[in-house]
Amino acid sequence: MLRVKRGCVAFLMLGLFARAAIGGPRKVIIDTDPGTDDAMAIMLALNSPEFDVRALTVVPGNVTAAQGLENALRMVSLADRCDILVAGGAQHPLFQKLVTAEFWHGKNGLANVELPPSKCKKDPRWGPDLIIEMVHANPHEITLVPIGPLTNIALAIEKDPSIVPLVKEVVIMGGSITGGNVNASAEANIANDPEAAQIVFQAGWPLTMVGLDVGDKTLLTRKHIEAFKKNPGPVSDFMYKVADFLIGLSEKFGETGTPMYDPLAVGVALDSTLVKAPAMHVDVETRGEFTRGETVANRRGANERNVLHHFPDGDRYVIEGLDKVEPNAKVCTEVNAEKFLQMFVSRIQGK
Ligand code: RIB
Ligand code: CA
Repeated sequence: MLRVKRGCVAFLMLGLFARAAIGGPRKVIIDTDPGTDDAMAIMLALNSPEFDVRALTVVPGNVTAAQGLENALRMVSLADRCDILVAGGAQHPLFQKLVTAEFWHGKNGLANVELPPSKCKKDPRWGPDLIIEMVHANPHEITLVPIGPLTNIALAIEKDPSIVPLVKEVVIMGGSITGGNVNASAEANIANDPEAAQIVFQAGWPLTMVGLDVGDKTLLTRKHIEAFKKNPGPVSDFMYKVADFLIGLSEKFGETGTPMYDPLAVGVALDSTLVKAPAMHVDVETRGEFTRGETVANRRGANERNVLHHFPDGDRYVIEGLDKVEPNAKVCTEVNAEKFLQMFVSRIQGK
């Protein structure tokens, strides 16, 4: 009997090691301000076998903290995933008033779709605390996917900076190096909490920025969502209604499709070959009159070195060389949009 038992234990251990070696599903925490495109991102993540979504932490942005928490709870319930922890977090940005976006997401933030009341219960912990606890409990295994303002992530870093080297990677939806969407310079997630974003960008962890530069090239159209009608299900029906609302809004502004901002961040976390993402140093402007909330990327990786000289005709600075600037982010600049859109549609239809 003992010999058989030893054999079973050895086989089990081998299986566990093999699973670890080939990499089982990635442990993921999504920080979200749900939000119509957040909803599509969350449903993509829940229907991707590469991901083991452990928690949703909710941040105010598209909607208030309370509305976002209710929306997150209703979505995990719709997907029959009450095993996923759902926790509220910050109630407002670090230093500015919240700007909510019902204009773009509908009164309830979910395209005015009334989902059934949730069967799931919220986790009693505060979102940043939940992130801290889960990172320490799963060192070097957690992928953070923030797809809203970065308030919760910044609070987690400020409360416990030791999590930074323990996080596997951070893939954010946010920022832009080709102009903003809330104004000429700032993208909504960064604009809603620039100080939080600067903390997150300067933390020193592996960060990928999935910004407007690629989101605006990844448009979901009516052609794509027809597949949801052909293959109905509770989730794909919900996704059809959300996408129909968003595409209708885009059509009002002369566009044919809706940018898949948040879902693409999940897509990049799933498959980084979907994008080209050169390493750059990114700072977040927090003081500019016209540029507060802009993600300012140094594409050349250097700053000119100016040295003050005293000349007979007066003092002036003289350029005397270039100083290297260490990158702190991979900035997505190109995307295989159709490959991602097919991934999204194929994983959601029929669910
Ligand atoms: O700029 C787009 C981002 O702002 C997305 O995350 C969207 O959900 C909104 O939060
Ligand atoms: Ca969002």
